[in-house]
Amino acid sequence: MIGRLNHVAIAVPDLAAAADQYRGTLGAQVGPVLDQPDHGVRVVFIDLPNTKIELLAVMGDASPIQGFLDKNPSGGIHHICYEVVDILAARDRLLASGARVLGGGVPKIGAHGKPVLFLHPKDFTGTLIELEQV
Ligand code: CO
Repeated sequence: MIGRLNHVAIAVPDLAAAADQYRGTLGAQVGPVLDQPDHGVRVVFIDLPNTKIELLAVMGDASPIQGFLDKNPSGGIHHICYEVVDILAARDRLLASGARVLGGGVPKIGAHGKPVLFLHPKDFTGTLIELEQV
């Protein structure tokens, strides 16, 4: 069911500093800052030859990554995103298997303008999983 690894997301306390580090120190192709008010985050995508890195920073007062950054003040890997062809079929299969799909199982439009869903980390070996329909 899952396809390519679309991205690995890293929560960061300082988006500009993290983007500068990827651009300068690591020599990566760093994209523009994208505000995602519906998701409570501000993101920067880094294009790698085989996948992307998503740097995530808090936006607003009720950001879903605030708790993660409180526990990991220097940042850390927040989620991984797998591609799926049909997100509703994927959701139905996961629900039938007993997995918890966050947000009531209703896909939101993600940073790439495509539908996304998140799966409960306790159901997947401690890893928050994002599914993106491509
Ligand atoms: Co993501």
